Amino acid sequence: MVEDTKQFYRIAIVGGTGKEGKGLAYRWVLAGHEVIIGSRQYQKAQRAVAIVNELFDEESDLLKGMENKDAVEACDIAVITVPYAAHRPTLESLKDVLDGKIVVDVVVPIVPPKVTKVQMPPEGSVAQEAQAILGDNCNVVDAFQNISHERLLAEGDVDCDVLVAGKGKAARQIVLGLVKDTGLKGWDAGQIENCVVVEGLTSVLIGLNIQHHVHASGIRITGILNQV
Ligand SMILES: NC(=O)c1ccc[n+]([C@@H]2O[C@H](COP(=O)([O-])OP(=O)(O)OC[C@H]3O[C@@H](n4cnc5c(N)ncnc54)[C@H](OP(=O)(O)O)[C@@H]3O)[C@@H](O)[C@H]2O)c1
Repeated sequence: MVEDTKQFYRIAIVGGTGKEGKGLAYRWVLAGHEVIIGSRQYQKAQRAVAIVNELFDEESDLLKGMENKDAVEACDIAVITVPYAAHRPTLESLKDVLDGKIVVDVVVPIVPPKVTKVQMPPEGSVAQEAQAILGDNCNVVDAFQNISHERLLAEGDVDCDVLVAGKGKAARQIVLGLVKDTGLKGWDAGQIENCVVVEGLTSVLIGLNIQHHVHASGIRITGILNQV
């Protein structure tokens, strides 16, 4: 008999009350992970839990809502889905509880009004900004920057791949597993310096959305046979 080696995690989504966070929560609960939707306000987290639960046939015991700090304290892996303007203050306020964890950064450095122009922070990327704030004891890994929440919340196949880049191959492997559990194909895009490409692509995709009057253009890696 083949042993089932699938790992289940308790995942906290900081700012999980938003569009992208709810989409990820929905997909991970479907895959059997425990998900804590984090918010600055406990009641807002509970409302988001109720909204995501409406997508299931019945209320899920795997889904909870907490204030961001409590959510991160209780989790194995933290996911950051706040607007870029809130990225630094949010991480600074959660630094102690994030210590030693894998931090999946979903944040894109969108700086309105020029949302179709790539605008990277001085550290090189949002992920590098996070790594500098949190220190070496954390592993910051970028993922899902190029996936629209509309695709995550829709049923079925998401026609888009996920580039995973960040600190530490082992951490990237864990995040690639979480990507697979959302039903998407992930690719190891390498070390944290490569996050500039992952994050920068989103502005390009927003520009394509505007040009072609769509909401959710995405990317595919091609030319690799026998992909697992
Ligand atoms: N939406 C997408 O399709 C998409 C796709 C790829 C990547 N992303 C990235 O994912 C991140 C989240 O996107 P989103 O569309 O989900 O954003 P959003 O809905 O605008 O915001 C997400 C949550 O962030 C929290 N937040 C807002 N302002 C804050 C502040 N000043 N301080 C602390 N927390 C604050 C709020 O949670 P509480 O009020 O509950 O605390 C809010 O519900 C962004 O960085 C975005 O670039 C989004």
